[in-house]
This record gives sequence, C-alpha cells and structure tokens, in this order.
Amino acid sequence: MSPKAVITGWGKCVPPVELTNQDLEKVMDTNDQWIFERTGIKSRRISHVEGTDLAELAARRALACAGLEPEELDLIVVASTTPELLCPSVAAMVQDRLGAVNAGTFDLNAACSGFVYATANITGMIESGFVKKVLVIGAEKLHIAMDYRDRSTAILFGDGAGAAVYEATEGDAGVLAVDLGADGSMGYTMVFPSLGTRGEPYEARPIEDVRLYFEGQPIFKMAVKGMAASTEKTLERAGLTVDDVDLVIPHQANARIIDAATRRMGIPPEKVFTNIENLGNTAAASIPMAISDAAAAGRLHPGDIVAFPAFGGGITWGTLIMRWGQRTEPVGTHQGELPPTDATVFDLLENNLRFFAPLHGRDSADPII
Ligand code: ACO
Repeated sequence: MSPKAVITGWGKCVPPVELTNQDLEKVMDTNDQWIFERTGIKSRRISHVEGTDLAELAARRALACAGLEPEELDLIVVASTTPELLCPSVAAMVQDRLGAVNAGTFDLNAACSGFVYATANITGMIESGFVKKVLVIGAEKLHIAMDYRDRSTAILFGDGAGAAVYEATEGDAGVLAVDLGADGSMGYTMVFPSLGTRGEPYEARPIEDVRLYFEGQPIFKMAVKGMAASTEKTLERAGLTVDDVDLVIPHQANARIIDAATRRMGIPPEKVFTNIENLGNTAAASIPMAISDAAAAGRLHPGDIVAFPAFGGGITWGTLIMRWGQRTEPVGTHQGELPPTDATVFDLLENNLRFFAPLHGRDSADPII
C-alpha cells in the first residue's frame, strides 16, 4: 500500500491591525449591518509587513506543532495570489529564512483554491514516495489589490497566512481523495492585476488597472454550485457519502456562500467550521488558517472525516477529503511574533485611499476620511 499524506502540524499568522466594518463606513457608503448580513464579516486584517513575513511565522508555528526541524523538510509550497515578488518565489524566501536547506520550493497560484491545489500536488508526491515531509503555506496580502472606496470588493478581503505540515504515513489517516477543476472561460469575473506586493508600483499604470476587478454575483452563484458539486464528486472518489463527513472546513469566501453550498449538500451547520467573521476572505490562506482555528477550538478529533472545498479566481475549484490523524494537540509551540507596529489602520491605508481618490471624484491631496 502506498503511503498517505497526513497533516501533523498546523499554524497561522494573523497580522494585528484590524479593519472593522465601522472603519469602512468612514471611507465608503456602506454599513456594518449590510456587510454582516451579506457576507458574515465584521472585521478583517491589514498587514503592516509583507506576506512573506506572515508566511514565515505561520510556517514556524506549524513546524513547532509537528515537532519538526526545518532541515527535515523535503519540500515547501506556497499558495498565493499576492506574492511579494514573482521571483524569487515566496517559498524560496521562506526556505532561506527557516534554514530548510534540504527542501525544494515553489509557489502556486490557484487564487482561493490554492491550498487545495497545493495539497493535491504534494499528496501525489508523498504517495509516490518522492517526498516525505512537506510544508504547505497559504499566504496573502490581498489589501494591496483593493480600492478601499470600492464597496463591492474591499469589504470582503483580508490579509493573513496559514500553514500545514504533511508527512507520509502508512496508516489509514491522510488525504483520501481530491478533485481539481477550472473554467478559464469565466476567468474575467475576478482579475487581480499583475504586481508583486513589495512596494507600490502604481504610478506606471492607469489607476483602473491596478485594483481588483470583480463580479460578485456570478462568482457567488458559481461558488455555491461548484463547491457542492466538487465535494460530492470527491466523496464518491473516496467511497464515502455526505453522512460520513464529520466536519467541513471550506474556503472562507462569504458566510452566505458557505451556508448555501453546505445546505445544497444536506450538511448541517454544526458540521461546518467558519472563522470569516473576524478575518474576512483571505483567499489561499483561508483554509489553513481555519484548520488552526478548528484545532484550537477542539473541532478536530482522531479519525474524523474532514472535507475541504474551495472556489476562487481562475475560475478554479477543488476539494480534499481527509481522514484526520491521531493527534489533535500540538507537539510544541513557537513563541516568535511579528514586529510590533503603532500604525493605525488608516495609516496603513493612507497611500491606497489617496491613490484611488480620483476614481471617486476626490483629490488625492484631500484628507483621507
Ligand atoms: N454596502 C452597502 N450596499 C452595498 C454594498 C456595500 N458594501 N455593496 C453593494 N451594495 C448595494 C448595491 O449597490 C446594490 O444596490 P442597488 O440594489 O441599489 O443596486 C445592493 O447593495 C445589492 O448589491 P449586490 O451586488 O446584488 O449584493 P450581493 O447580495 O450580491 O452581495 C457581494 C455582494 C457580497 C459581493 C456578493 O455578491 C458576494 O459575496 N459575491 C461573492 C464574492 C466572494 O466571496 N467570492 C468568493 C470566491 S472568490 C474568492 O474567494 C477570491
């Protein structure tokens, strides 16, 4: 029997500066009630450091949780829609910082489906015996692609990173089945302009071209249908049914999308884990951050069948079905923290609000609030 890929470590990094719905009310025509009812979000984080810094800390926490040294890793994969640089990859920068000298590295972009795509890739490599210990990170600094006066996009997304350590196991736990899908013909519904998030290379481009282009309603409908269909297909591949599922940890797209997709499958809300309320949609980082939060909340038990459906730009989708391993508690903890900051959320968003001001009939030199 070939080995399986089982999660043995999990960790997350949540940057400290919050952007609440009340903060958004100060810069756009919206209100807390509308945002919460339509999305389930009350607050999201704006990072004062690069996504690579978030990725590194999430990785250190996941390694400590697994009880592994960085030198033991064979491979590091980072899923991100907002890498700090295109080259070197975030994975290579994290490898250097960790001293994971025996690990290969690559980044992967499947937008919000990135963690599922990355896990599907490394599962095949673990099952074939090419690698044994792999770190998968989802890291995003999405705020760089937002226009914080555009109420149709900026309310949804937040920054953060999550990481999972996968190890080869001979037992029956681990990834049981995967499904990956895409419809490139619908890619136009969500477009991130090409930019590395380091610095703000805005000046060379027309203002309209540097912010997220997003068609919320078609994405909403596709995400509901896509996540439900993909989950059912993956369960069938694993020889399981929805009744076998103990917990769903979905991509945290929007509380209403999660609710509609899981209802469609007949999965009751008490079997669905969400943490979108205080983090927003963090794209590729959302599932690994949710794994950490689900573990900390005691929602994962030995042998549980866990479904991880995702849907995102591309358009891409995918699902993992896993049997959780025996361990639900961390082996150890990493004590490091991000560098502290005194910046307020409007300090961090000042350049953004000034830059996009002309698109909203304002002068860049005007007060930002
Ligand atoms: N505050 C107040 N009013 C608003 C806001 C806002 N932030 N945004 C829109 N409105 C208004 C609209 O102008 C519209 O007014 P009108 O009827 O007078 O024209 C009304 O509210 C309804 O707008 P809709 O766009 O129909 O609102 P909807 O219920 O579709 O919600 C939303 C918009 C939240 C963007 C929703 O479409 C959505 O969540 N889509 C999916 C987005 C997502 O999470 N995708 C995840 C997959 S992709 C990924 O994760 C990267």
